[in-house]
Amino acid sequence: MNILWVYAHPDARSLNGSLRDAALEQLLVDGHTVEQSDLYAMQWNPVVQPADYDHDPAERFKVATASSSALAAGTQTPDIVAEQQKLLRADAVVLQFPLWWFSMPAIMKGWVDRVFVEGLGYGIKRPDGRSLRYGDGMLAGKRAMVVLSMGGSEHTVSPRGINGDLDEMLYPIQHGILFYTGMSVLPPVLVASADRMTETDYAAAESELLQRVKGLPTDRPIPYRTQNGGDYDRRFVLRSTIDAENTGLRVHTER
Ligand SMILES: Cc1cc2nc3c(=O)[nH]c(=O)nc-3n(C[C@H](O)[C@H](O)[C@H](O)COP(=O)(O)O)c2cc1C
Repeated sequence: MNILWVYAHPDARSLNGSLRDAALEQLLVDGHTVEQSDLYAMQWNPVVQPADYDHDPAERFKVATASSSALAAGTQTPDIVAEQQKLLRADAVVLQFPLWWFSMPAIMKGWVDRVFVEGLGYGIKRPDGRSLRYGDGMLAGKRAMVVLSMGGSEHTVSPRGINGDLDEMLYPIQHGILFYTGMSVLPPVLVASADRMTETDYAAAESELLQRVKGLPTDRPIPYRTQNGGDYDRRFVLRSTIDAENTGLRVHTER
């Protein structure tokens, strides 16, 4: 597989840096090709520029023919085009970050904001006018996985933990970005209690990550309900016959 590893940590000598190095080495040993977007090292500009925000997507993002030369012929800046080409080449995309204020660091959100433009991330339509999103879209067929560390313990993100259930905390990223654009999202890899790890804890975390990295091509994705699979009505509301006694984020995953 060709894996795009998107990494957001300012310090390569951090826990996240060590885990990233181990994972990339494992992927290469397993015969995969790896491309990396090390956002701090690249000094990625996370702020959408007026020039990025061109209201004519036909000019901005010429990917309809899916050829990279057509893509490059659009009006986007080269830094965005380079990331879009990496995405389109990838069979799997990994987002690795330390949890900062319940989400990804701003530099990574700004990578999504600038790279997942109309015509690539959203605004894709079938010939009959129906939108392709939530399980379908330009990035359909690719796999995605979130790898995150957090200061809090695993209990705090259990279903009744004070920080809220991990799946719900990651819903905007896993469902709202990765699944929205068509990707199949594997369960996340969580490294909890990350600020007080012993060597033994680190060894266990690394070993779990390497295990999960090995499963990238084959692990079962989270069974999110697809927009166009029949579970939603015309207003995109889950049909009343499905999971009738529940509401909230959990109803959008098949159980
Ligand atoms: C700005 C900032 C915000 C943070 N927000 C959270 C948070 O919301 N929840 C949490 O459990 N830990 C939080 N932490 C702790 C980090 O997740 C933790 O320090 C990191 O995962 C450790 O990995 P590292 O050593 O590679 O940085 C935060 C840390 C910083 C610096």
